[in-house]
Amino acid sequence: MTNRESFKSRAEVAEQARERTLGQVFTPPAVAKFMAGWVARGRPRRILDPSLGRGVFIQALRELDGRLPRGTRITACEVDPAMIEASAGACASMQVDVRREDFLGARFSDVFDGIVCNPPYIRHHESKRGEAMFRAFDRLAGERLSRLTNEYGLFLIRIWSLLAEGGRAAVIMPAEWLNADFGVAIKRHLLRENAIDAIIHFKHAADVFDGVLTTAAIAFLRRGRGDDETISFQTVDGAGELGRPARSIEYRVSALAPDSKWTPLFNPRVVVADGSVQLGDVARCTRGIATGANRFFVLKGSEVCAAGIDRRDVSVCVSKAAQVRGDRLTQRDVDRMIAGDERMFLLTPREPLAAAVARYLAAGRRDGIDRRYLPSHRPVWYRPEQREPGAIWVNVFARGSFRFIRNEAEALHLTCFHSIYPNAGIDAERLHSELCGATTQERIRSETRIYAAGLSKLEPRDVERIWINPVRLRSGRRKSSRRAGSSRRRAVPSCPD
Ligand SMILES: C[S@@+](CC[C@H](N)C(=O)[O-])C[C@H]1O[C@@H](n2cnc3c(N)ncnc32)[C@H](O)[C@@H]1O
Repeated sequence: MTNRESFKSRAEVAEQARERTLGQVFTPPAVAKFMAGWVARGRPRRILDPSLGRGVFIQALRELDGRLPRGTRITACEVDPAMIEASAGACASMQVDVRREDFLGARFSDVFDGIVCNPPYIRHHESKRGEAMFRAFDRLAGERLSRLTNEYGLFLIRIWSLLAEGGRAAVIMPAEWLNADFGVAIKRHLLRENAIDAIIHFKHAADVFDGVLTTAAIAFLRRGRGDDETISFQTVDGAGELGRPARSIEYRVSALAPDSKWTPLFNPRVVVADGSVQLGDVARCTRGIATGANRFFVLKGSEVCAAGIDRRDVSVCVSKAAQVRGDRLTQRDVDRMIAGDERMFLLTPREPLAAAVARYLAAGRRDGIDRRYLPSHRPVWYRPEQREPGAIWVNVFARGSFRFIRNEAEALHLTCFHSIYPNAGIDAERLHSELCGATTQERIRSETRIYAAGLSKLEPRDVERIWINPVRLRSGRRKSSRRAGSSRRRAVPSCPD
């Protein structure tokens, strides 16, 4: 090793030590842009970056162009002169008031409408904070903080205290505070203040922080939230997913306990404190049958008759959500629809094919049905996936409440519904009434994705995540809820002789 190399490596070692003691972990521009964009939605006139670094947030604010009000003033704190120098380019055109100062001790003459921050992550034993500083922060938090509180925890408390009415703060940190003992007082303080709008948890934080940190979460704080506003817990795989419709679970503030671990709350397969379980623990949900050509595969009774198709080659199937009114599909409903010559018969041919079916399929081939996307990707083009009738159905799209339908008629359905299959020993009737209950509806509302114009959508995975009360769901006898004698065999078109 040459002298120069050994000198260089000593410089690198010193650099690394400084980065470590100052908690210098830098935010990727895409993440900074997302956070700055959220803060800018509050039209902030006074913005603060408490730990400037190389100025990635200032750069992100600059790139928001016209989305900030004219004359917005930006203040930033930074203790490392090398960082202040490195941020000069980003700060130049934004006229940032850069203060070389410890944010936790700095005095500000004003509060801020927007704060965007990646606070230093400093290991407890490397932090030099004394008892006097902690006492001041106890007062801010309204309770005694753990003396093991990480520097970023103190930043979070100070940031909240500096937020103006209606102000927004986005703070990216390691996710440990959500579970650690030192996080309990912080969570209690933020819940008491109704401060948290949302938390986004990164599944793969190493992608966000270049392998430096193993966990990461962004806390979104807003001053002036309504009493009935929920807190959104969102999970993303990595930075690339930010801004896309996120998997989100909404919690009422009162439902969150500060002394419990919060990272499991991002994970849907968890039992909540009130004894609820998720539907996926007692049943399974699958989407409906996709034919790829509904008018060919689902026939009217008159068409079945005209083609001479045997009733054993078709199954009763509902193709549109509007065909089912109420919360039960009875045999009488099915009979009524068949009598009205609605499209109700799904082609489910036996093998070997009957002559009438073979003729019908040949006509379909002539019309190119077998070359359409879904049929051409099936092992047998004319055989859509085989399903047992689900005991309970739920509509895929809804404006307002989702409808759970007890499928008494044991019919099949296309993709307008998802089917719920109770596990052995679970009573379908009881499960159905639990799902129709007001509590379940309220929980679903808080967990569904809302599309344009108030339209909500449920995926089968969303259905399995629905919280339900498991009490009294078990049937007396341990048997599947499916009754003998399927209407697929009973309901038939009445063809003229
Ligand atoms: C985690 S880095 C984040 C930098 C930048 N905001 C980013 O997101 O890339 C934290 C920065 O805060 C600075 N810093 C550390 N302690 C500080 C303090 N008490 N007050 C202000 N800045 C501090 C560090 O030097 C470092 O540049």
